[in-house]
Amino acid sequence: MFELINFVYLLSAVLFMLGLKYLSSPATARMGNKLSMVGMGLAIAATLLNPDIVSFKMILIGIAIGTVIGAVAAIRVEMTSMPEMVALFNGCGGAASALVALAEFQGPGVAFSSFGLITLILSVIVGSLTFTGSIIAFGKLQGLVPSRPICYPGQQVVNALILLAVAVLGVIVYQDPANLFSFYGIVGISLLLGVLAVIPIGGADMPVIISLLNSYSGVAVAMTGFALANNALIVVGSLVGASGLFLTKIMCDAMNRSLANVLFGAFGSGDSPAGGDEATGGPGGAVKGYEVEDVATVLENAGSLIVVPGYGMAAAQAQHVVRDLCDYLQEQGVEVRYAIHPVAGRMPGHMNVLLAEADVSYDLLFAMEDINEEFAETDAVLVIGANDVVNPAARSNPSSPIYGMPILNVDAARTVIVLKRSMNPGFAGIENELFLKENTMMLFGDAKKSVQNLLLALKE
Ligand code: TAP
Repeated sequence: MFELINFVYLLSAVLFMLGLKYLSSPATARMGNKLSMVGMGLAIAATLLNPDIVSFKMILIGIAIGTVIGAVAAIRVEMTSMPEMVALFNGCGGAASALVALAEFQGPGVAFSSFGLITLILSVIVGSLTFTGSIIAFGKLQGLVPSRPICYPGQQVVNALILLAVAVLGVIVYQDPANLFSFYGIVGISLLLGVLAVIPIGGADMPVIISLLNSYSGVAVAMTGFALANNALIVVGSLVGASGLFLTKIMCDAMNRSLANVLFGAFGSGDSPAGGDEATGGPGGAVKGYEVEDVATVLENAGSLIVVPGYGMAAAQAQHVVRDLCDYLQEQGVEVRYAIHPVAGRMPGHMNVLLAEADVSYDLLFAMEDINEEFAETDAVLVIGANDVVNPAARSNPSSPIYGMPILNVDAARTVIVLKRSMNPGFAGIENELFLKENTMMLFGDAKKSVQNLLLALKE
């Protein structure tokens, strides 16, 4: 029976890997999800064949509760709340690993090998801190916990000492597994560590942290797998751990920030920084605010248009009207494409998800590296609620916090139209000289309203 179970685990591991591969492109992502679902179904079915199972009653109750919660959440949660949902899933993954390790540790007459004991202790540590860290991340995104970085003097020293305490307790338990007091000490302190590690991080950096916590939850699962000698847990945990880490790195690289800067830099409060000028003002008063009709005239006469969506499009929920506008322009013979910056918005793939929701064809979506050369040959660029990802300071100002971050070179186009509500900065809290450039037209207002008005003006 164990051969059969391990064979099915192998099959599901292959499906998970294929699923991950397919998930890397929007065009194949649905297939990736389906393959992973089948893989997970097979892994669960194989686990239920285990002859060591004493009673199916509790398992079935657990499956029923989990299915209801998972299905309701998946149906009801808005696309824009995905980071919160992923945070909760990570927390559940961490908690599950820690609980399984805890149950195994207290199991009757269990004798551990050195390796088994080490992985069990690690599973409890990583699982517990992933649980509370994810709950705090969820709270920050939901506004239940202040989203600004919560800092105090000596914070990093305190965190380092707590980590040291966990390590010391881990060694004590390793030497004396009967020392339950120390074991529960590890659980308690790890839970505290999760909270303390995430509170100094700004709310807007949460997607990076959620991806990192996702990786941690994978590590916890893999450690539990080693402790239980369960191949499915080892493979799945390793895949989650590695892919979460890669995604974290991709996000940090795209923001030109190190992981240490995200973890300890207290950057990005998630609140709109003060000091922005109102729509009619602007630094030096050189900003040119235009009327809808002026902008419509430019679009009417453009042969080519690149749309650059950003966080503001998500905030305004403008994706559907943007699609309508682009459909209309395409009917009028304008060549329309979308340029997607890897960290536009507030979560990985944020813009792709929104545009897919509005049924924008994947063929029209271009990644930054594939379209950056094209701006110089383009008549008009429509920047919809994007700011940092088009800020030329990233190229030209070494003192800027975003210096070195790759950006979309929209300023090379003949005309740049920017839709936003005011002169307020974006996530990085810095001014954007793009808005002052000769070839830039600012159209102030909520992105959805502005796009609707543009479409009306074009049709008149
Ligand atoms: P941001 O730089 O954050 O700028 C968004 C702009 O949208 C703001 O300037 C805001 O200006 C405007 N806006 C907000 N609501 C609007 C509305 N209803 N209508 C029209 N405009 C609206 O966005 P971005 O260019 O997408 O850059 C993303 C930033 O987030 C980067 O700095 C990135 O590093 C960071 N970040 C991204 C991620 C991921 S994974 N995507 C994760 C963490 C951090 P007004 O207030 O004037 O309207």
